Amino acid sequence: MAEREKLVLAYSGGLDTSVAIRWLKDQGYDVVALTIDLGEKKDLDAIQERALQVGASAAYVVDGKKKFLELFVWPSLQAGAVYEKEYPLATAIGRPLIAAMLVQVARQENAQGIAHGCTGKGNDQVRFDVSTQALAPELKVVAPVREWGMNREDEIEYAAQHGIPVPASVESPYSTDENLWGRSIEAGILEDPWAEPPGDVWDWTRDPRDCPDEPTYVEIGFKEGIPVSLDGKPVDSVTLVETLNQAGGQNGVGRIDHLENRLVGIKSREIYEAPAAVILLQAHQALEDITLTKDVARFKDVVAAQWAQMVYDGLWFSPLREALYAFVKHTQRHVNGEVRLKLYKGTSMVAGRKSKDQLYRMELATYGRGDQFDQSAAAGFIKLWGQGVRTASQVQGQLHSLDLSALVGGDVKKLTAGGE
Ligand code: ARG
Repeated sequence: MAEREKLVLAYSGGLDTSVAIRWLKDQGYDVVALTIDLGEKKDLDAIQERALQVGASAAYVVDGKKKFLELFVWPSLQAGAVYEKEYPLATAIGRPLIAAMLVQVARQENAQGIAHGCTGKGNDQVRFDVSTQALAPELKVVAPVREWGMNREDEIEYAAQHGIPVPASVESPYSTDENLWGRSIEAGILEDPWAEPPGDVWDWTRDPRDCPDEPTYVEIGFKEGIPVSLDGKPVDSVTLVETLNQAGGQNGVGRIDHLENRLVGIKSREIYEAPAAVILLQAHQALEDITLTKDVARFKDVVAAQWAQMVYDGLWFSPLREALYAFVKHTQRHVNGEVRLKLYKGTSMVAGRKSKDQLYRMELATYGRGDQFDQSAAAGFIKLWGQGVRTASQVQGQLHSLDLSALVGGDVKKLTAGGE
């Protein structure tokens, strides 16, 4: 008899992936479960037990928190990656790491492929599948949810028939995903884009009406664009992000309501809670404002948008994303210094920024004493700056569509010296 093919399944412990273990077994596969902790605060021991109970032949649990932040989140923070100006990409940045770990365990276990519990309508399937193709083209990818044609009720029935314990999460009307960089919430009433998110959507962040009356200040220190200290003390990546999620959440910072464009052509509405991401992206931007030249900063915005789109679209492991990082890393050499932020009733505001490498020079910017800017040179500079429009006006006449005579018309009050 031929040996059973082996698959390594990304196992969250939820309904879909629990049913998937059993379903894959019935399809003839040997299933190894892999659960990766990216900071979702779940009972990992219970999940590992459940995987075996439901039918996996082995169950791995890996702590991926530090690797997630240092290898995936920090480069994205340095890039300034935000999808469609709103979404800091928590779920999207987590997927390539999970895929890479699936591939590694598949190799260790001599498995023929990997499996995941994504539906056929979302972005996550793309991220898992494409990452796997990039890292291990020889492995196959099996996505049971995409194939089995069961809806939620069918799955619950299937679970009951096969003695699969149904996790408590099926009670929730929402579909959620979380890791240290943020929490994503969709489905239920949120599918109506006119409906304001009800209170039970929020888990990490307080309603601004219930926030403390005194603001919280945080001071974040960066070295080459990577946050390394909090309130003047060195801090490790995981502690920093956990602390900022707490501090931000208590002050209602990090709520996002995004109507986004999925790669598969669907517009969807997703709610995000991402206090640490919002705070760190804002702080990093503030430090770049004071340390990057105008040209680098503006070109970097283009790179940031491209990075965000590629990561959203599943192309973390791709030649262009790697090349963009070479650019981003080079720009971060002078992004050193401190940023102070004020967290207060749903807002986060930069209160101060400083850097030993700052291009902001008081002696140039000041309107007060010590002004070293040569104002007399401005006239000549502006004469040449305006040369082009002056020539066009002289040769071709009016350049614009503004009717000057209609600007200063009836609504005028005029007084003349000496009276009428
Ligand atoms: N829309 C987000 C993305 O594509 C999050 C997807 C997962 N969301 C969820 N609620 N399960 O990155």
